[in-house]
Formats: sequence, C-alpha cells, structure tokens
Amino acid sequence: MTIPAALKRAVLRARRDTGFLAAGVLPHLALVPVWAWAAATAARTGNWLLAVSVSAVLVLLGTPVLTAVQRARYRVLLGVDFPRLAPATPERWTWASIAQWLAATRPWRKIGYHLVLGPLLALLELLVLAAAAAGLAGVTAYAWAWALPTGIRQAWFGYATQLPAYTAAGFLLLCALPWTARAAARAEARLASGLLGPSRAQRLQERVDELAVSRTGLIEAVDAERRRIERDLHDGTQQRLVSLAVNLGLALATRPDLPDEAREVIEKAHSEAKEAIAELDDLVRGLHPAVLEDRGLDAALSGLAARTPLPVRLRVDLAERLAPNVESVAYFVISEALTNATKHANATRAEVLVRQVGEVLRVRVADDGLGGADAAGTGLTGLAKRVGSLDGAFRVSSPVGGPTTVAAELPCAR
Ligand SMILES: Nc1ncnc2c1ncn2[C@@H]1O[C@H](COP(=O)(O)OP(=O)(O)OP(=O)(O)O)[C@@H](O)[C@H]1O
Ligand SMILES: [Mg+2]
Repeated sequence: MTIPAALKRAVLRARRDTGFLAAGVLPHLALVPVWAWAAATAARTGNWLLAVSVSAVLVLLGTPVLTAVQRARYRVLLGVDFPRLAPATPERWTWASIAQWLAATRPWRKIGYHLVLGPLLALLELLVLAAAAAGLAGVTAYAWAWALPTGIRQAWFGYATQLPAYTAAGFLLLCALPWTARAAARAEARLASGLLGPSRAQRLQERVDELAVSRTGLIEAVDAERRRIERDLHDGTQQRLVSLAVNLGLALATRPDLPDEAREVIEKAHSEAKEAIAELDDLVRGLHPAVLEDRGLDAALSGLAARTPLPVRLRVDLAERLAPNVESVAYFVISEALTNATKHANATRAEVLVRQVGEVLRVRVADDGLGGADAAGTGLTGLAKRVGSLDGAFRVSSPVGGPTTVAAELPCAR
C-alpha cells in the first residue's frame, strides 16, 4: 500500500471510529439522570421506596429502547451486528417457566450495560473525543495565536517555545487517534456483544435447533435417494434380468434338440440369472422396500415375517401412518433383528411388537435363541446409529443362554 493510500485509510478509519464513539455519549448517559434523581429524591425526602420503585420502572421501560438504539449504532456506524434471537416466551407463566426464561434471556445483562457500564463507556468516549479535539487545537495552535491581538501575543511569556510544543503534541495526538479510537471502539464492541447480544445458552440453543433441522433434512434426503435407487433397480435392472431368465427358460423348454454342451451352458446361465434376481431382490429390499412406502409399516412387516424362515408372531398396533423416516428406521430394526435371529441365534421362534404410545413408537423383537449378541457388531451398531439419528433410544439385551431382545423407542410426533 502506498503512503497516501495508507494515510487515507487511517483518516477514514479514525473518522468512522470517532463518529461511532461520539454517537455513544448521549445514549450511554441516558440513565444517569434517572439514578441521579433517585439518589437526590431519596436523600431529600428519605423515601427510598418511592425513589427506587420509580427509577426501576423508568429503567425497565428505557432498557429496550436504549438497547435498540445501541444495536443500531453498532450496526450502522461500526458494521457490527449482534444476532437477535427471539427467546422462546413460556407458554404458561408459571414460576418455573419464568425462572427458565430469565435464565435463558438474562435481562439483567442489558440493564447492567445501560445503568452501570454506560456511564463508564461515556467517560471513555469523552476521553477519546477530548484527545481528538486537543489534537486539532494543537496542530492549529499557530492559527489561534495569530488570531490573538498583537498586544496579548507579545505579552505571552514563552510564546515562541510553547507554540511549537503545542503543535507537536497535537500532531502526535492526531497520529495516535486511528489506534486509540479503534481500541476504544473494539473494547466497546466486545463488552456489548457479551451484554447486548444473545447469551451463550441462547446461541447454543439456536445452534442445536439449526443442527436438528439440517440433520432431519439430511436423513430425509438420504431416504429419498434410497427410494429412488430402489425404484430404478426394481423397474429397470430387475425387469431385464427377469426377462433374461424367462427367455433362457423358454430356450430350454422349446429346444429339446440342443446339443448337450449348449444345453449345459444355457442351464448354467439360467440358474445364474435366477440367483442374480434373488440377490438383487435382497439388495432392493435392504435399500427400502417399495411396500413400506406404498402400504405402510404393517404391510411391510407382514411380508418380512412371511419371508423369515422362523415362525414369527407379529403384533402391530398403529392408528395411522407414521413419518416415512420413522417407518423406515422401525422396519430396518425389525428386519436386522429377525435376520440375526435366523442367522446367529438358533432360535425356534421370534416375536415382533410394534406399538405407538403417545408420541413414541415402541419396537421390540425377541427370539428364544442362544443369546450372547454383540451390541458392538456392525449390524447392531448400524441400527443404534439409525435410531440415534431420530433421537430415539436403542437397547439390546442378550444374556448368554438367551433370550435376546432388541428394543427401540422412536419419537414420532407429527
Ligand atoms: N439374536 C441373536 N442371538 C444370538 N447372537 C446374536 C444375535 N444377534 C446378533 N448376535 C451376535 O452378535 C454379533 C453381532 O451382530 P450384528 O448384527 O451386529 O453383526 P452381524 O450380524 O454379524 O453382521 P451384519 O449384521 O453386519 O451382517 C453377531 O455376529 C452374532 O454373533
Ligand atoms: Mg446382523
């Protein structure tokens, strides 16, 4: 940066910061008359109760107005915006909810700012402004002296030595102004952000709310993507494989005269096509079964129970369809638990219970197998994570010797 450009920047910055400080003096002193009046009235009449109550009302009424003025000053003159978070006002005004509201908003921070800190900040602002004024007066000392009548100037003892000293001091004060004004403005902004801005608890709450919304959006997007892939595979690849298997089967049935080697190759291709269809079917079901979306959890679970090689007792008690992400998490919990019961438990039967109690969906899968399930396994941790993504609770109970119970509670308020 060249020297004139740097100088210009420093001058502009000093002008902006001093303007900001100057605009703070009056609002920072606004409550001084209130407590001065209260002190004077109390001292004069001895009626402390009247003095304190009247001034408390004035302070309570003045605080929101002064806060708005200060916010505007910081925003317009300094470019600093304190986020304004609407504190959730309690639905019912009970003592507990009022205490909670006060703890979250902490209104005494603002009152403290205007009542106690304000006058101190006004003092700081006046000091910086006085330094700026003294600087200007110093650098123009010769002009002031020349404006004096010649007689007074000649009678001024030390005239020749004092004027250069005033000019030099003024020059130094003006040179330091960009930094002193900046430091004072920064210090004010830091204090104000802690007292006029939202409290740490409010900011954290806001962040938690934002994250909850973005997480729900993310989960819904992932679910929608799974459904799309499932539809594409089902309507495209799976149909092609089915028609390939049908054609191969037709070739075998309609051409009995085929040479043995050719027949063998076609038979192999036919059975591989059928295996591929079965594998793809499993994959598609693992992604997101179409019936779950089309006909709901009850129908999807009936299909799942029918496909499970164990006898499954299924009890579903649902009044209405649930949110798609709740349905899909519940489905995957049950599907994985039944697969585990079949694969690992050596069970003779399983029981699935799905029940909505108020705003919670309770899911429970029990088998009468060997027990000893490892909750840290990939399948079970995957379930815990899925349930956790909906802020639900997940539990596995599987003592050695059995039985094993996998349970989940999913919030399902609409
Ligand atoms: N119902 C059950 N009864 C007995 N043992 C079980 C049961 N469920 C799981 N286990 C044991 O706990 C382990 C972890 O199960 P988990 O479902 O996490 O993984 P997995 O089934 O081995 O693999 P994946 O589910 O990823 O295919 C299993 O390997 C099995 O030994
Ligand atoms: Mg498993």
